[in-house]
Amino acid sequence: MSWLPPTALGCGEPAGHLEAAGSRKILVAHRGASAYAPEHTAEAYELAIRQGADYIEPDLQMTRDGAFICLHDPTLDRTTDVETRFPERRTTRSLDGETVEGWFAVDFTLEEVKSLDAGSWFGPQFAGSRIQTLEEAVQRARGRCGVFPELKNPELYAGLVPSLVARFHAEALRLELGSEGVSAMVQSFSRAVLEQLRDAGSTLPRVLLFGAKEAGRWVRPEGPAEIREFAQGIGPAREILLDHPELMAHARRAGLRVLPYTFRGGRVLEDFGDVQAEMRYFLYELGVDGLFTDNPDLFPRNPEGSP
Ligand code: G3P
Ligand code: CA
Repeated sequence: MSWLPPTALGCGEPAGHLEAAGSRKILVAHRGASAYAPEHTAEAYELAIRQGADYIEPDLQMTRDGAFICLHDPTLDRTTDVETRFPERRTTRSLDGETVEGWFAVDFTLEEVKSLDAGSWFGPQFAGSRIQTLEEAVQRARGRCGVFPELKNPELYAGLVPSLVARFHAEALRLELGSEGVSAMVQSFSRAVLEQLRDAGSTLPRVLLFGAKEAGRWVRPEGPAEIREFAQGIGPAREILLDHPELMAHARRAGLRVLPYTFRGGRVLEDFGDVQAEMRYFLYELGVDGLFTDNPDLFPRNPEGSP
């Protein structure tokens, strides 16, 4: 189980150990270089790799015919032209206790998804960009950087046989994630997903994400020790760490890595002049192991001075 940043290792080096992560900070390109190109497209992933990402971050949803695709929302309407292309395919589902209307990816085949324009919403120069499959993202990363997929919305796929987690585990083995040439970790807001991955025998390092709603439970001194039973790292929203810097010590005591999300120019927290100063504070003052950012080019590799 390796936590070493792939660019520090050199892709293809043998797996190390959690304890051996060293001091190189881990740059996770959030949805690719998503400040500059439409999230989760080939353009966003390619730019992130060129900007020095250690990991690209595919959020995963699934199509009707069982393909893992890189898509943040469970629905296609925010980032594609699905509404124009398939106006009659809008549906309603219950998700996280709320009623959600839209064009759910799980109602579309991979061929249909691949026919959508996933770039024009971001800018006309990206017209015709396509949603990527997990396999395509891995192919792009192989030998160049790692992949850090997130299993999203498990409740949407609860009825699947085999289960979402079993399918992901099989796909990770097929794509040889975590082996020579493609370092990998996996993340989820769902504890159950990470426990199922552990029980399935997955050797990929697992990271539990949490936001403000779940923070109360995990910032307690004993919280991280509980997480250590099913994960090797935590991904708190950055605000949680600012409000509870003691979480760093609790996490260290439990042997957990810390990778907060999400840092982006234009959404900088109060008290920081710019996103680079903000990232520098988290990396070198709070001492996190890495972070998720939409601006990989601004990730500060040095505690002081230029990136
Ligand atoms: O996965 C870390 C971060 O990306 C969580 O937020 O909503 O962008 O997936 P989200
Ligand atoms: Ca994510």
